[in-house]
Order: sequence, then structure tokens, then C-alpha cells
Amino acid sequence: MQRGQFSSRLGFILAASGSAVGLGNIWGFPTNAAENGGAAFLLMYIILAFLLAYPALMAELIIGRHTRSNMVTALQSIASSSRAKTAGKLTGLGGILAATFILCFYSIIAGWMIAFMLEPVAHFFGMEALGNWLTEFSLARNLGFSALFLSLTVLVISAGVEQGIEKWSQRLMPSLFVLLAALIVYVLLQDGAMQGLKHYLVPDFSQMADPQLIVRALGQAFFSLSLGVGTMLIYGSYIRSDENLPVVGALVTLTDTGVAFLAGMLVLPAIFVAQELGVTIYGGDGSLIAGPDLIFQVLPALFDGMGTTGLAVGFAFFVLMTIAAVTSSISMLEVPVAYTVETAGTSRIKATWLIGLGVFVCSAVVSMNFDALFGLVVTLTTEWAQPLLGVMLCIFAGWIFNRNSILSELKQGDAGVEQGLFWKVWPIYVKFFCPLLILLTFAQGFF
Ligand code: PFF
Repeated sequence: MQRGQFSSRLGFILAASGSAVGLGNIWGFPTNAAENGGAAFLLMYIILAFLLAYPALMAELIIGRHTRSNMVTALQSIASSSRAKTAGKLTGLGGILAATFILCFYSIIAGWMIAFMLEPVAHFFGMEALGNWLTEFSLARNLGFSALFLSLTVLVISAGVEQGIEKWSQRLMPSLFVLLAALIVYVLLQDGAMQGLKHYLVPDFSQMADPQLIVRALGQAFFSLSLGVGTMLIYGSYIRSDENLPVVGALVTLTDTGVAFLAGMLVLPAIFVAQELGVTIYGGDGSLIAGPDLIFQVLPALFDGMGTTGLAVGFAFFVLMTIAAVTSSISMLEVPVAYTVETAGTSRIKATWLIGLGVFVCSAVVSMNFDALFGLVVTLTTEWAQPLLGVMLCIFAGWIFNRNSILSELKQGDAGVEQGLFWKVWPIYVKFFCPLLILLTFAQGFF
């Protein structure tokens, strides 16, 4: 069977950055920063992204490209003993399940983004009742819009690597950059924006050593780079052999942290602009309103307060969110789809629709039991599964994957890699430091 492949370096970088840049960057990161001391969080996030997340990303990209297969087959094929093969199978299946469950909750939130995107349109045409329905929490709305969002995701993935993932990433990601830049410029010109910028960029160093901040920043970095669940592994398996992996991995990490940083420049100033317009931005306990209320109450109140311009700005903001969500969700769906196509021989189109339907059923169950299940699924997948699977991937790359195979894999894209800094540091780093540091940070969260 012919496997798909990205046709160019830019195609891969946009697709992998598309996976990385998502709701985690534009919602999760600014919210976390707002709650955890602004710049203190930013700084810790940048440190952890390059110190822990980048090496783990490289583990996935190298394993993926070397084995050119889905996560289960990939981890099994680099293992030589039968015990390691079993561990590979379990880790691979764990990753596929985690990616699928992340998509279950992600599609619900992404559906809200589409609904909030349509709300200004409804208002513009005088359809107030529809506008209200779109922004009020209801089962019908949640189910309808997650189904719509998942259908878009399925349509892209069923078209394959080059015609689906690459083509759409190349269209959507540049639009995302332009929209983000335009929104930042607009918001920074409003009254109150500078106060938000100060809150974001002047660090409160006393918060840097807070264990909770470190754990959150690590979780955020892993979620943001889509690590542990095989998305980067499978995208890596579609990279051309002559690409220089450490360089493309670094570019993806830079793009991802860059967009998170820029999203902070948009959202934090916007909060204070909203205050200037009379919106309450502090909760009862005196802390800045964060979490879902920030995106779904504070910002919409800000857009409302801006009159007709606000309709356009609000529309643009939620288009941005929707684009970010689609390019991430396609990478999640690709994980179980590639596995099914490669191991069961099902056609891509059939596998994509069937799995898409399964994800919809799962997200419907979560929607119907929202209070009991939503937070639970988020915690299990992002706070537990992602870091722990990340540790397993580092162990596979550091202890099980043959060193010479890794070197020859890297040499295909850079003949002189052996003399470079990456080869001096990464193999040891991924073997000892990465798993240990991830586990330590993870464990810290419990004490
Ligand atoms: N990186 C995405 C974000 O920041 O929103 C989320 C994500 C995508 C997580 C793909 C996991 C994944 F496999």
C-alpha cells in the first residue's frame, strides 16, 4: 500500500504547527498565564517547552520517520525483545486511545467556537433569538456543533495526507497568522490594553517556584506540542527522508511557542480593555476571571461593548479559534485512522467516517453527562496520559531504539549531524533527563 507523504518542508511545518497551534495556545495558554502570574508562567513555559517538550517531540519525529508507520507498529518494530514489543504495543494503543479521547472533548469546545463565530452574524441580520441560542449552553447546541466540527475534521482526513492534511494546513495556517496579527494590533490600540500588557509581560518572580505553576506549565507545553499520543509520530512518518529533523522540529516548537506568546498579547490586553468598557474582570475572590468564563463571557462582553465594530472583531476572533481547532483535530483523528488503515487494511475513507462516528458518540456521551465527565476526560487525557506516554516515548527513543539506527536516520537529512550539538546532547538527554524530569514534575503535582 502506498503511504502518504508531505510534499514539501513547508507543508510539513505548517501541518505540524497546525497540530500544535490550537485551542491550547489561544485559549489555554493565555488563561493559564492570566491565572498564574502572567510573565512568570510565560517564562516557565518557554523553558519547559525547549527543555522537555522539544526533546520529546524529536523522539516522536525520529521514531515516526524511521519506521514510517502508526504508533503501535512503530514502537513494536524498534523493539527487539518480546517484552519490549509488548510494551510498545501497549504504549501505542494507549496513545491512540488518548488521541481519540482528546478529540472527544476537543470537538465539544471547538463546536462552541463555531457557534460563537456565527453569533455576530445572527445579530447582524437581526436574528436575536438565534444569536442567544448559539451562545447559551444547551445539549442541542453542543451536539449539533460538535457533529458539525467533527464532520469538517473527517472531510479533511478522508482526503489523505497531501490532499487533506497538507493542503488544508497550507490554507488555514497563514490565515490564522494574519488574523492573529490583525487582532493584536486592533486590541493594543484600545484604551486599557497597556495595563493588560503589563500584567502579561512584567513577571512576578515570587510565583516561579510555585510547584503548581511548574506542573501547569509542563502540562501546557505537552498539550500544546500535541505530545505523547502519536500525532507527531504519525506526522513524522510522512516527512521526506532528506529533511533535517532537528531543524524542522525546532521550527515547529518555535512556531508553537511564538503563537502562544502572541495569543497572550491578544487575550490579556483584551481583558483589560473589557474592564475599561465596564465588564467585570475579577471574580469574587479577587483573582482575574479565567477558564471558560474568560473566553465565553468576558471577551463576548467586550465585543458587545464595541458596537458594530465588535461584531466584526468577535467574528474574526472566533474564526481564529475555529481554524486553530480544525488543524489540531485533524492530527488527532489521523492517529486512530492511520492505525486502522495500516493494520486492518480498511480504506481511508471508510476508516475515517467510522472512527469519526465513534468519536461523535463518545463526545455525545460526554455532552450528556457534562458535569460528571468533561473535567474527568480532560484530566485523564491531558494531565495523566500525555506526560506518562511522553515518558514512555522518551524511554523507547533512549533505551530501546538502536542508537546507530537513530544516527543513520538523522544523517539522511544532515550528513554532519554526528559532529553537531544535537547529537552530543539529545541521546543522553532523552535517555536520562527527559523521563526523570517529566516524572519529577508530574509527581510534584501530587505533593
Ligand atoms: N496542540 C493542540 C492545542 O494546543 O490545542 C492540542 C492537541 C492536538 C493535543 C493534538 C493533542 C493532540 F494529539
